Amino acid sequence: MKKSKGGSSFPAASSQGRTSSHPDSSGPRVAVAIMAAGKGTRLKSQLPKVLHEVGGKPLLEHVIRAAVRIVPAKDVYAIIGHEADRVRAALAHTGVNFVLQAEQRGTGHALMVAREALSGYDHVIVLSGDAPLITWETIGRLRNFHLEEQAAMTLLSADLENPTGYGRVLRKTVRSAEVRGIVEEKAASAPQKKIREINSGFYVFAVKELYGSIGQLSTANPHHEYYLTDMAEVLGKARQRVVAWKTANASEVLGGNTRAELADIDQQMRLAKCRQLMADGVTVFYPATCVIDADVEIAPDTVIEPYVQLLGKTRIGTACRVRSYCVIRDSEIGDGVIVRPGCVMEEARLGTGAVVGPYSHLRPGSEIGEGAHVGNFVETKKIKLGKGSKANHLTYLGDADIGAGVNIGAGTITCNYDGVHKHKTVIDDGVFIGSDSTLVAPVRVGKGAYVAAASCITDDVPEDALALGRARQIVKEGWAREKRAARRK
Ligand code: UD1
Ligand code: CA
Repeated sequence: MKKSKGGSSFPAASSQGRTSSHPDSSGPRVAVAIMAAGKGTRLKSQLPKVLHEVGGKPLLEHVIRAAVRIVPAKDVYAIIGHEADRVRAALAHTGVNFVLQAEQRGTGHALMVAREALSGYDHVIVLSGDAPLITWETIGRLRNFHLEEQAAMTLLSADLENPTGYGRVLRKTVRSAEVRGIVEEKAASAPQKKIREINSGFYVFAVKELYGSIGQLSTANPHHEYYLTDMAEVLGKARQRVVAWKTANASEVLGGNTRAELADIDQQMRLAKCRQLMADGVTVFYPATCVIDADVEIAPDTVIEPYVQLLGKTRIGTACRVRSYCVIRDSEIGDGVIVRPGCVMEEARLGTGAVVGPYSHLRPGSEIGEGAHVGNFVETKKIKLGKGSKANHLTYLGDADIGAGVNIGAGTITCNYDGVHKHKTVIDDGVFIGSDSTLVAPVRVGKGAYVAAASCITDDVPEDALALGRARQIVKEGWAREKRAARRK
C-alpha cells in the first residue's frame, strides 16, 4: 500500500504553489490541532468519547491518521482533557503532541489553551476528534482553498439531508465564499434551521489573526461555553476574511456523538473497506455481515464468506477461502489456504495450502506448515506443525515442535504445564501418534516412531521405535453374565 507522509504527496491545487507543509519546503508553517478534550456526555460512557472505537480503532486515531498525511506528527497537537491520561496512553504510539485542556469550556476555549503550542506556525488546521471519516484529501483541499483565498478563517461545510443538531453556515450572499457567521442549532431561528449547509467542525485559521481576536469570544450562549464557531463573526467584525469551502463528500463530516452515530460510522467504514477489497479482486459475499479492519490485507481471488471477522494486521494470500463465522486477528495466511467454518485465530501463521477447521482454535504462536491440516476442535498454542502434518480431531497441542509428515491421532494431548512451568514436546518427522495419547512434556518422540493408541508417554521415544504406554488389557470371561444372574436372585 502506498504510504505518504507529509504534505508533499498531496497534489497542490494552489495557484500560489506554496501549499506544501513539508518540513523542508519554504511554504507556510502549518500545524494541525485536533479537539479531543470533550467528555462525550451523549455516549453515557466511562470511556472518553474519542477512545470509542469505529472500524477497529479509536475515533481520535482515525483523525490523527488523516492529519499525519498532511503534516508530520511533530506538527500535530491533540487537545485532550477529559480522562487525558487514558487518551494520551492510548495514542502515544502515534507520535503526536498533546495539549491539556484541563477544564472543558468549549471548542473556542480548546484553541485558547493551545495558543502557546501553535505560536510558531502561520496556519492551523483544526479538526474534530470525534469525526473520523474525514480524509486527508479533503483536509488538503480545505488547506489549499484557505491559502488561495488568503483567508483568516476557512471552514469546511457540507449540505446535509438532515442538518439537525449541527451549526448552520450563514453566507454573506448565496453565491459568496464569504461567511458572516455560524449559528448553533440551539440558537437558530426557524428560517435559519431550514439552512442545510452545516459547519463540519473542521477549519483552517491564520494563527496570527486567530489569536489576535480569540479574546473576544464570550460565553453568552445556552451552554455558557466559548464557541470556536463564533470566531466567524468575531473575525468578520475585525474586517478579516472568513470563507467556507463546501465538500461534496458530506458523509466525511459525520460526527460520532451518540452510540447510534458510532454504529453508522462503523458500518460506513466497514463497507468502504469491503468495497476496496472487492475492487482489488477479493470476493466478499454479503459484505454487510463482515467486519474487516482497515489494515487487513487480502490478495486477489480469495473468497470471504458471510459473517467473517478479519481483525488487526491480518494478511491473507491469494486463492484462499475463509468460510463463515471465523474470527481471525493479527494472523498471516499463505496462498490457497482453506479456513473452514467457525475458526478462531490469533497471531497464527498458516503456510500455503494449509486446511484448518471447522472449529479450530489457533492461539498465538501457532505456525501451521505448508499443506498441513488442523481439524475439528483442535486447539494449538506456540507450536510448529511441519509440512503436510495432520492433527484432525479433538486435540490440544501446546509448546510443541512437530516435524513434517506427522499424524496426530484424535484426542492427543500435550501435557505442557506442570502447574508452574511450561515444557516442550518435540515430535520428529514422520511420527505416528495413536489416538487418545497424552505426551507428558518435556518429551521427545524420535523420527518415524509410533506411539500406540491411548498411551501416556512420559519418556523419550527413540527413532523408529514403538512406544506403548498403557496398561495391558484384562478379559474376565463370563463376568457380565454372572453379574446379571446374581442380580436376579
Ligand atoms: C460542533 C460545532 C458545530 C458543528 C459540529 C460538527 C461548536 C460550538 N459547534 O458541535 O457548529 O456543526 O461540531 O460536528 O463548536 N471539545 C474540546 N474541548 C471542549 C469542548 C469540545 O476539545 O471544551 C472537542 C470535543 O471532544 C469534540 C469536538 O471538540 O471532539 C467538538 O465538540 P462537540 O461537543 O462534539 O461539538 P458539537 O456539539 O458536535
Ligand atoms: Ca461533535
